Amino acid sequence: MDLFEHQARELFEEHGILVPQAEVADTAKEARAGAERLGGRVVVKAQVKTGGRGKAGGVKVAADPAAAEITARQILGMDIKGHTVRKVMVAQPVEIESEFYVSYVLDRAAGRFLAIASAEGGMDIEEVAASRPEAVARVEIDPAAGVSEAKAAEIAAAASLPGEAAGVLVKLWQVLIREDALLVEVNPLVRTDRGEILALDGKVT
Ligand SMILES: Nc1ncnc2c1ncn2[C@@H]1O[C@H](COP(=O)(O)OP(=O)(O)OP(=O)(O)O)[C@@H](O)[C@H]1O
Ligand SMILES: [Mg+2]
Repeated sequence: MDLFEHQARELFEEHGILVPQAEVADTAKEARAGAERLGGRVVVKAQVKTGGRGKAGGVKVAADPAAAEITARQILGMDIKGHTVRKVMVAQPVEIESEFYVSYVLDRAAGRFLAIASAEGGMDIEEVAASRPEAVARVEIDPAAGVSEAKAAEIAAAASLPGEAAGVLVKLWQVLIREDALLVEVNPLVRTDRGEILALDGKVT
């Protein structure tokens, strides 16, 4: 079962990973009220169980609650790769310094998990993997040992992520194990202008 982004966000928060403040809405009016509570300016995000929302016009910044209502009205009901948008998430905008990609995926053939990470995160990791495979690090994980602080530092170094990202890699592994997940992906994991590491998007299977 795939989770919606807002559900993944909640799991991340429960496990101590920093995420933007956010609310879920199924009407444009609710999105407006959410934006009011979140301070006005928000990112309105389609909640669909498929990738490529941004490119499809399903992720938009709204400058104030009135704009959030208009934007939510545009996004609700939109079709994204055969998925109708029934809910949006309104999230506090984060000042992004840099965007990374991190995931843990089950490598079925090898029967183990693989950490995949890149300092070139954002919307198009598949493109990065295809055109510049050297920019995407793949690190095998011994299932008995899991991801310790040392292992997380190894993954961060292999992908040229900042050292502060290692703590998040440990917590993400705990999400995977405690929730019995097959996939945990964060794209983008970001570093803010204040040096904090936040998960701005999440996919959990
Ligand atoms: N809370 C936020 N604050 C600032 N920027 C954001 C926020 N959420 C998303 N963004 C920006 O929008 C981009 C796309 O967002 P996101 O990763 O959630 O959607 P997506 O990648 O298009 O969707 P998917 O992962 O389903 O393909 C991010 O890379 C980031 O630059
Ligand atoms: Mg994304």
